[in-house]
Amino acid sequence: MLEVRDCRNLDKPDEIFDALVEHLKLATNGGKIKPFITVFAPQHPNQPGIRVWNEQFIRYAGYKQSDGSVIGDPKYVEFTRIALEMGWKKSKGTPFDILPIIIQMPNQQPHLFDLPSGVVLEVLIHHPEYPWFAELGLKWHAIPLITNMMLDIGGVKYTSAPFNGWYMGTEIGSRNFGDESRYNLLLPVAQRLGLNTRNNYTLWRDRALVELNIAVLYSFQKTGVTIVDHHTESHHFIQFENKEKLNKTHIPHFIL
Ligand code: ARG
Repeated sequence: MLEVRDCRNLDKPDEIFDALVEHLKLATNGGKIKPFITVFAPQHPNQPGIRVWNEQFIRYAGYKQSDGSVIGDPKYVEFTRIALEMGWKKSKGTPFDILPIIIQMPNQQPHLFDLPSGVVLEVLIHHPEYPWFAELGLKWHAIPLITNMMLDIGGVKYTSAPFNGWYMGTEIGSRNFGDESRYNLLLPVAQRLGLNTRNNYTLWRDRALVELNIAVLYSFQKTGVTIVDHHTESHHFIQFENKEKLNKTHIPHFIL
């Protein structure tokens, strides 16, 4: 169940930030993740609305090196550059530096905020069978909290209405860790597994991908953080679709 937090009365960037930190705490709930949406004031017609520049509340910085490689998440190289330009101080240059939050109120300059320590739950990634997996030094944040999507209700535009659910394992194991344009970890994992990575036909990428996904699901479960595997989630989704089909309330369709 998605719980709605009505924060339409807030009009200062630090109030918005505090409300988001509170959202994160409520959603984290000691690992038993609860879905929430925090709704800030809607945009006035023909005016800019409240904007959180971050795509998600918790994201890792990406630092482009002189040789073109990236330390951290390559997806956020540009955001990281902007944050540094705006005077972000807490950058450490590790592969998992949590980015600051940039909040912009209508017709004002953007403000930069660092997350207080201790509010971000993270899961260290290890594997049920391969002890060396932990040596890769991987971790991921528990909560996907989307901060850059607009909620439009009958033309009323909520330009900032951050919401969260919990992760499906593949979002982290396949995409965030596996994609060539993200952490790009299939080769190092395949090498540690001792696979023949010289030929595509050995399917070393596929085998590395499965072990990465096993590690993500296992680590979240061990840490007591809500996560769902893609088989269970697909099954739920089909059930949801079937229910919707049965639920036809025969809303008439008007052709205008
Ligand atoms: N795929 C995105 C990520 O890896 C998260 C998108 C929202 N996902 C969710 N389970 N609610 O961070």
